[in-house]
Amino acid sequence: MKAKKMAAWSSADLWWILFSVSFVFTSAVSQQDSAVEMFEGHQFILLPCEFDTFDMDDPTVVWSRSNLSPPTIHQRQQEGDDLKDQNQHYRGRTSMETEALETGDLSLNLTNLQLSDSGTYTCTVRTFRGGERRVTDIELLVKGQQYKQTPAVDPGQRS
Ligand SMILES: *[C@@H]1O[C@H](CO)[C@@H](O)[C@H](O)[C@H]1NC(C)=O
Repeated sequence: MKAKKMAAWSSADLWWILFSVSFVFTSAVSQQDSAVEMFEGHQFILLPCEFDTFDMDDPTVVWSRSNLSPPTIHQRQQEGDDLKDQNQHYRGRTSMETEALETGDLSLNLTNLQLSDSGTYTCTVRTFRGGERRVTDIELLVKGQQYKQTPAVDPGQRS
């Protein structure tokens, strides 16, 4: 009788486990400010980032993915885009508003979405004096096309 009771989880135990698991899960998720999902091959996605850069001393905006090498996806300075350190996976696929540093709209436009674009995108603002502010983290999930149209009759099979 006693052994049987010890083998089974009490409902208090179960609630505690459920609570702990959901707490861990929630704190892991909340490290991202936001998350977006998009299908592979989609024309573009706008990753939002806003920060008042107009009164800053020579600001630089860097979009990056910390687990890539090199991590830089896009870099914008007062003089314009600086893509010399850009990860080649993103070559020709990124853009920011021309007036980004004046308006504070630092959103990144990423085009021609690929499955390997999935990851955490960080928008950081740096100043000339070495100050740095991580503005936002966005989790991007690029999904494969799920519902491909398959023709009822394969045209190639017809005689
Ligand atoms: C993103 O860039 C693509 C390609 O240049 C353009 O067609 C699209 O309008 C841009 N999207 C936004 C929101 O700026």
